[in-house]
Amino acid sequence: MFDDALHRTLVGIVGPSHVLVDDDLTAGYRVDWTGRFRGTTPAVVRPRDTAEVAAVVAACHSAGVALVPQGGNTGLVGGGVPGDAEVVLSLRRLDHIEPVDRRAAQVTVGAGATLAAVQQAAVDAGFAFGVDLGARAAATIGGMVATNAGGLHLIRHGGMRQQVVGHEAVLADGSVVRHLGGLLKDNTGYDLGSLLCGSEGTLAVVTAVRLRLVRRSEHRVAALLAFTTVDAALEGAWALRDTLTSLEAIELFFGEGVELVCGVLGATAPFGVTHPVYVLVACADDRDPTDDLAGAVDGLDGIVDVAVASTAERRAALWRLREGHTEAINSLGPPHKLDITLPASALPAFPEQVRARVAAVDPAARVWLFGHVGDGNLHVNVTGPAPDDDRTDEAVLELVASLGGSISAEHGIGVAKRAYLHLNRTPAEIAAFRAIKEALDPDGILNPRVLLPPVGAPTTPPVR
Ligand code: FAD
Ligand code: MLT
Ligand code: ZN
Repeated sequence: MFDDALHRTLVGIVGPSHVLVDDDLTAGYRVDWTGRFRGTTPAVVRPRDTAEVAAVVAACHSAGVALVPQGGNTGLVGGGVPGDAEVVLSLRRLDHIEPVDRRAAQVTVGAGATLAAVQQAAVDAGFAFGVDLGARAAATIGGMVATNAGGLHLIRHGGMRQQVVGHEAVLADGSVVRHLGGLLKDNTGYDLGSLLCGSEGTLAVVTAVRLRLVRRSEHRVAALLAFTTVDAALEGAWALRDTLTSLEAIELFFGEGVELVCGVLGATAPFGVTHPVYVLVACADDRDPTDDLAGAVDGLDGIVDVAVASTAERRAALWRLREGHTEAINSLGPPHKLDITLPASALPAFPEQVRARVAAVDPAARVWLFGHVGDGNLHVNVTGPAPDDDRTDEAVLELVASLGGSISAEHGIGVAKRAYLHLNRTPAEIAAFRAIKEALDPDGILNPRVLLPPVGAPTTPPVR
């Protein structure tokens, strides 16, 4: 229980100004980015280094008080905010970035370093960081490890799991596991760093990671391609994926999304009319990739409009149309954000199928589709249903599972999808997950409300 004694202990560890208890001070830590998930907390604790994290976790462990680790609070499945009793453990102050190890092409960073700061450090040293996403200014590396974030460049460099070459973390009893050497070949037992990727704060608190860096490409170009049908857009996207060696990102979105982004954010679309479907393609290379991109686009069927952007400013304007979806959709009220992957063969029919499924459950709901189509990841956002009305979530996730897809491509399970994990994972798999959780956190103090299904939830996967 959180009592005066624990409060005093925490103040002794991190100092009085880093134990927040007043409602107005904890407010921003108690609600998620979308506004759909909110809770209460007895305190937000903000340690500054690994030793303080370890002491805070040990104190909460002794008192039997659960913790929710929180980084930038940009997560989209409600996993980083408290329910009604957990202490929020904010890792944002662990934002140190060590000098880049140029020989190894690696950098060690604190869990609270933002993605943007790590990207800048990499660029300053002549490298790049392999993962990029729209929340770069606020998302932290610790949160990105915990969610195994994917993002815009996954088709080129992989997601977070592919970048982590060393880790430091605090276990539920306050002990520290540290393996930051960054050796690329290192078969000395279980790969705890990999296990932490996607663990959503349930197994340990990530305090630092060593990240691989990638080569920096000096030349970039982006193009927005307009199509009249989903089929043509997908065929085009796959053809570009298979021919362009400089490909960095390939994204899909729809006319209604572009109209919303332009209306809400004041963005400008490059064409005089709204087209039904868009593909945004980005290339980066050591030499100017514009001719390669133009050549590849020329050979595509079904394109009705093309805008090519070479300058940083014009590329940013095209990217605004895609990245602006999250903010623009949120302006309609807390969306139900469903983040799914489908087998390529299921993608062409999916937009129509999912719209029909949602309409059957809630005719007033609106469906917004966009995503990282190069890796089969679509974001299905539903606006209209109340935050706690899960009927459309269930309908969409059941459809996705029946098509052989994943109910979480890159955002994680969190609170939002824990009741649906059985759609993708067998009872034996879920039992193995529980055994891992039990081994590392036997008292269940690390983020107890996320990822694992609530006791009594269905366990049988649907028949496919
Ligand atoms: P938080 O939201 O603070 O936490 C997320 C989860 O990680 C929680 O379960 C929390 O308990 C846990 N956690 C946080 N820090 C730690 C730690 N140090 N140790 C252990 N557990 C921890 N995601 C993508 O994958 N791809 C995208 O393209 C993408 N684009 C986005 C664009 C926008 C505009 C927004 C708002 C979000 C986007 N996201 C995207 C989602 C989000 O940015 C990622 O999930 C990100 O990884 C969350 O990082 P964070 O620091 O904000 O984590
Ligand atoms: C994106 O790709 O824009 C993000 O994952 C955020 C979102 O799904 O809204
Ligand atoms: Zn995404």
